[in-house]
Amino acid sequence: MQLDVVTLFPQWFEWFRDQRHVANAMAHGHELRALDPRPYTPLRGGQVDDMPFGGGAGMVLRVDVMDAALQGIYGVDPVDLRTQRRVLALTPGGRMLDDRFVEELAAEPAITLLCGRYEGFDERIVQHFASDAVSIGRYVLTGGELAAMVVCDAVLRKLPGALGHAESAVEESFSEALGGDPEYPHYTRPAEYRGWRVPEILLSGHHAEIRTWRRARSRERGASS
Ligand code: ADE
Repeated sequence: MQLDVVTLFPQWFEWFRDQRHVANAMAHGHELRALDPRPYTPLRGGQVDDMPFGGGAGMVLRVDVMDAALQGIYGVDPVDLRTQRRVLALTPGGRMLDDRFVEELAAEPAITLLCGRYEGFDERIVQHFASDAVSIGRYVLTGGELAAMVVCDAVLRKLPGALGHAESAVEESFSEALGGDPEYPHYTRPAEYRGWRVPEILLSGHHAEIRTWRRARSRERGASS
């Protein structure tokens, strides 16, 4: 899978790319590129943003700059690009990221994530260049970079090779395997610590009963969240 992040701060992704599960995914042939739109700007002095029409605080990423950047990177009109690959605009008002959405994205051969800065994007970027608007929660970050990292992290760990065990990403919180419920609780050694004992069933070796117990705990958590 090719993950492209269009960001004014590509250096933020150097740290992310160095993390083990990301490096593992790269070693399995997946790609993560952080692409700076600034070198493509048609404006003088590397300008990429401007004051909002109608007034208000902050700056807005310009549509002509994003147009030039996407043209320059992909060599196609960005209006057509979104019919060729998913182009996600990260914005607090977008479709909320959840496990179903992540699965959907992980099945794509290539996605592009557009990061807004300051007050965000000129709305025409979202309307005409993006296939989806994505939010990681109803709060405002200073830019789309951390949100893009959240999306990349959640998607990459679904790909074969990113995690140590093939099953790790299958039966996990909110997955289909758990009926969309949060994951059951995990325990490891010591079996008793400060008088707190691990549930006896987990030490029993009865795999079918353990599965039933875990499913029940998972459902309980789902009902109370
Ligand atoms: N950009 C700023 N805040 C955001 C959020 N909550 N989700 C996605 N992108 C954002």
